[in-house]
Amino acid sequence: MTGAVWARTLTSGAVKGEGKSVTDSAGGRTEEKEIMSNWKVAPAKVAKEDGADWNWRCFRPWEAYKADLSVDLKKHHVPATLSDKIAYWMVKILRLPTDVFFQRRYGCRAMMLETVAAVPGMVGGMLLHCKSLRRFEHSGGWIKTLLEEAENERMHLMTFMEVAQPKWYERALVFAVQGIFFNAYFMGYLISPKMAHRVVGYLEEEAIHSYTEFLKELDKGNIKNVPAPAIAIDYWRLLPDSTIRDVVMVVRADEAHHRDINHFASDIHYQGHELKESPAPLGYH
Ligand SMILES: [Fe+2]
Ligand SMILES: [Fe+2]
Repeated sequence: MTGAVWARTLTSGAVKGEGKSVTDSAGGRTEEKEIMSNWKVAPAKVAKEDGADWNWRCFRPWEAYKADLSVDLKKHHVPATLSDKIAYWMVKILRLPTDVFFQRRYGCRAMMLETVAAVPGMVGGMLLHCKSLRRFEHSGGWIKTLLEEAENERMHLMTFMEVAQPKWYERALVFAVQGIFFNAYFMGYLISPKMAHRVVGYLEEEAIHSYTEFLKELDKGNIKNVPAPAIAIDYWRLLPDSTIRDVVMVVRADEAHHRDINHFASDIHYQGHELKESPAPLGYH
């Protein structure tokens, strides 16, 4: 972020906490109940450039960015080694059930897949964090880079859930898939970070493909091009009259950046090095 000055003020005195909705069991009536605390850890009050209140607790203006839409969407890592080929075909096979389950419901598909996409960065970041502690060594910025990826993916989810509400059986599916995928990726990363990053690189290539299909359906008019959710406008610094098409464009650009980071990480391992030996691409969106 350059040039922008954000107004920040801290609340003083007795700390006012977050408003909390409570339900009256008698009538189902809701009322705001204030959380009181003497710990003086009130969050900073943040305003937008125009002075209006900043509405989001999950991210701050200085974490918002303009997506780099010039990123090459067609870049592909041609599987060369046996482990590359296994990673590639694993992802291709995993795509089959999602194609059957979601078919052309791309909004729903995006929302569901983002619940999975936000896992690898957190698992990889956590394992590198533990490794840094165990070995008394720096990570080269890779912990932060992978956690940035996880947070970015979670913001994709926070955006898409504004336009596609999950049904009960989809929530159940997410619950089950997360339980399996988290543990599988955790074990996979311990055994071979090289292959784990390659798998994510290929998953991101598939994500780019899915969002390209999403755009085609929007352009054909098969999916309504609704206004962009407010959270997306602030997170990607979009114009106020942006639509879901603009959101898909920036999300797809994010996925291309994740693809590059993960293939790069795998290449570092492939060449017999550790991630910390190469500076991490921090802030690469
Ligand atoms: Fe994503
Ligand atoms: Fe991604």
